[in-house]
Amino acid sequence: MIFAYCKIIVLEETMDQRVDERETADAKVVLGFSADAPADQLVSTFSGFGDHAIRVETSHDEDARSNFMMDLYRHLGQNMAPGRRDIYETKIKKNFVKEHGRAPKDRHEVRNAVKSDPYFQFWGHLRVYCNQNLFYENGRTVERQLDDLIEKAKPRKSAKGNLDLDKNFKIPKYQESFDMHWMPGSYFTKIAEDDVAAGAMYDSGGLYVMTSGHLGPFGDGAAYSIVNYLREKYPDFTPEHVLDQGCTVGHNTLPFKDAWPDAEVTGIDLGAPVLRYAHARAEAMGYDINFSQQNAEQTKFKDQSFDLITSTMFLHETSKRAVNNVVREAHRLLKPGGLMLHVEQPPFRWFDDPFEQFERDWDTHNNNEPFWGPMHDMDLEEVAVKGGFARENVLQEYADLMKPTEDNRYAPAAGQWYVFAAWKK
Ligand SMILES: C[S@@+](CC[C@H](N)C(=O)[O-])C[C@H]1O[C@@H](n2cnc3c(N)ncnc32)[C@H](O)[C@@H]1O
Repeated sequence: MIFAYCKIIVLEETMDQRVDERETADAKVVLGFSADAPADQLVSTFSGFGDHAIRVETSHDEDARSNFMMDLYRHLGQNMAPGRRDIYETKIKKNFVKEHGRAPKDRHEVRNAVKSDPYFQFWGHLRVYCNQNLFYENGRTVERQLDDLIEKAKPRKSAKGNLDLDKNFKIPKYQESFDMHWMPGSYFTKIAEDDVAAGAMYDSGGLYVMTSGHLGPFGDGAAYSIVNYLREKYPDFTPEHVLDQGCTVGHNTLPFKDAWPDAEVTGIDLGAPVLRYAHARAEAMGYDINFSQQNAEQTKFKDQSFDLITSTMFLHETSKRAVNNVVREAHRLLKPGGLMLHVEQPPFRWFDDPFEQFERDWDTHNNNEPFWGPMHDMDLEEVAVKGGFARENVLQEYADLMKPTEDNRYAPAAGQWYVFAAWKK
């Protein structure tokens, strides 16, 4: 409770200070998973990972390994990635022009042109190694203390929020068919009774290390960006019922309670292990939040149950049909005057440069995220209109990236999120 209160204060202060603290207002960096942000914006060591009662305990050697992985992600993003552009411009593109009489016209042609180059192969191999090794090492850390984590995560009678799991839940094919971004068993696989392993893995090793701490000690920078965006653009919007779709362990669910303490906040996801962990984590951090195992394509909620329906980094892990269903479902669930808002990376068409598009498409072909590319090709305005929203109420724009500061506040950073939103008027 004290923690939740502190975070409300921090948020209020940060919002007031934001204009003064804006160092890089016109920077056009867009946040990705590739840890390619400026070094001074990163929480650089594993010891910066936010503490809470259900956090995995780590030994000296495990910390050292996580620190090494964070450094390796950063090294690949900051030091080695620019070399790819140099080699492309000075060698690969020139050879392509010689052969075809023109430069590569799209990301697919760039990918084919670079794929046999040793630098691209070496970089790609290391980048894949990072994710695979990260989850391998982190999986060992989680497994050796899984019994304790399960015990700690068991719902208590005194819990403030509900946990609602569905024994007969059917995982859709787009999640069931492979290990998302090389995370063994993805978010839903159960390896023990009352399992929480996937949640523990995603929380500690997964997101935090993969992004080199860029989303904050508690992985919640995206939600703070949403709150900041809404406060700036729609200061009178005060949702009473908030739904976070694809909430995983609730990283980006909790900040909505900080922003609107009287709101009822609910997170839904497919995976029972991540939801159990989300519930325990929220309780441990003093938050009153409901978590429920539901498919965002078709939920159990009644029509017009929510004022704000959000998601962070969720749509790209579904499918074309699912995105259409999720948006249609959001329209059904919103009250008149309510807002649907998804945070993702921008569509490819927002970038003229085929090489930039190629770099942004890397995960589709190498990181076990096959829908990443197709989703960023979709015309989401059309999806929203098909889903029931009026065209004039659909928004696609950038929101400032909120980064954690050293004293665990959040301030605008040199980065932006892509926002896909629609008001139900
Ligand atoms: C990349 S994670 C989202 C991360 C989380 N929002 C955050 O900010 O930390 C994608 C999540 O969406 C969930 N998911 C995928 N399809 C879903 C669906 N149809 N309904 C609900 N959850 C879904 C997955 O189980 C996974 O936990």
